[in-house]
Amino acid sequence: MSFILALDQGTSSSRSIVFDTAGRVVALAQRELRQRYPQPGWVEHDPMEIWRTQLDTARQALAQAGLTAREVMAIGIANQRETTLLWERASGRPLHHAIVWQDRRGEPMCAALRAQGLDALVRERTGLVVDSYFSATKIRWLLDNVPGARGAAERGELAFGTVDSWLLWQLTGGHVHATDVSNASRSMLYDIGRQRWDEELLQAFDIPASLLPEVMPSSHRYGGTDAALFGGAIPVCGMAGDQQAALFGQACFTPGMAKNTYGTGCFLLMHTGHRLQRSRHGLIATAAAQPGAAAQYALEGSVFVAGAVVQWLRDGLQAINASSEVEALATSVPDSGGVMFVPAFTGLGAPYWDGEARGAILGLTRGSTAAHVARAAVESIAYQSAALLQAMSRDAQEGGGPPVSELRVDGGACVNDLLMQFQADLLGIPVLRPRVTETTALGAAYLAGLAAGAWQVLDELAAQWQPERVFTPTMDRARAEELMARWERAVRQATAA
Ligand code: G3P
Repeated sequence: MSFILALDQGTSSSRSIVFDTAGRVVALAQRELRQRYPQPGWVEHDPMEIWRTQLDTARQALAQAGLTAREVMAIGIANQRETTLLWERASGRPLHHAIVWQDRRGEPMCAALRAQGLDALVRERTGLVVDSYFSATKIRWLLDNVPGARGAAERGELAFGTVDSWLLWQLTGGHVHATDVSNASRSMLYDIGRQRWDEELLQAFDIPASLLPEVMPSSHRYGGTDAALFGGAIPVCGMAGDQQAALFGQACFTPGMAKNTYGTGCFLLMHTGHRLQRSRHGLIATAAAQPGAAAQYALEGSVFVAGAVVQWLRDGLQAINASSEVEALATSVPDSGGVMFVPAFTGLGAPYWDGEARGAILGLTRGSTAAHVARAAVESIAYQSAALLQAMSRDAQEGGGPPVSELRVDGGACVNDLLMQFQADLLGIPVLRPRVTETTALGAAYLAGLAAGAWQVLDELAAQWQPERVFTPTMDRARAEELMARWERAVRQATAA
């Protein structure tokens, strides 16, 4: 039996999981990551803490599995995307804390660029919208605000990387500065059609090309780890942004296959195959994890507040003591009693894109209780995801592709049966929860294992995917459509507020 070590460096924690070649979890270690909020709207991570927590968990997972470096075929990396770092090539010293994907400090710059009409070029080349979510304005902020950064960048002394590149640099003892296409596609500087950094965008953002990592397929022999780290070199053979890794780990390899990850927010991705399909319904186009030489694409939409609405029930409304209590409270009533909850705490993302929208609870009566509000809060996660999937299906069908016929799910909140059933009811398609819900790490392991020879073809991976439970829609379609129409009305009221 051979083993693959997957590093899953997420926003809230660093995790390491050892998989066997049957795709089973053999060992898992996790450490929390400190969130830093130096100003309202700013979010930072300490790059050395990212590295140390990741290295610690990797060592712990290997020790738990009783493995030496020689027994590990390969390492795969999945990472929080867009989070931006600059470091000195000579010393490896980070210039500043990492600017996290949630950080909004680049917004004034984005507003100015939108006013200059950069939107069309960004959309055409990168598939994205001009937004401070992506890396470009974070790099620019660092160059403009860290003393000496711009001069050093112009002399070729600095490296830019997202968290994948940073970990790879550390793992290889500073020998490899590379990223994969899925991470590059989140920078707002990468031409996803031609698959290269875009000169015109680099100029528009005033970012020197000397900073950039080399872009490789997601499944690729990136280099060996420094032998001192694990008592022997292990080849790093896979890297992908965490959401694209999860799409891969869910074995969504062909057009129309989609997954939704229910975390603090939701990330819904649908594979569109080798064809770059642009959204006409408010989604973004992005590079999917790429196992071979040919480009692969996906459509993506994200829900900003999903699991976070349950945290608000606990901490804000104090309706529950622990998040795990939400399902019991919500199922204590047969339905939400007409209550609609639009959790637009930080605006609304795709397909609405309204940064000014704010949360709203509608349809309250004298009979409404905390249980109805809790149920409406849980249901809001499904409504938001359904709106995204409807937009995706429209895009898919207009592009001549197949409609989405099932939704594969993962992430913390996918254990909530009430939520999954309601999701299936709204969508009118089956919702499939897999046996292995560690799909992000599994995707990284698959990408690494393919390059290392653990598997030869994608069919072998597709055969490993098994549902633990299938949620079949039971709701009458007319009723589901009526509910979606009520949701859209509630959204309009929240956006008008
Ligand atoms: O785009 C951001 C996303 O990659 C973050 O994922 O799982 O670290 O919250 P996660």
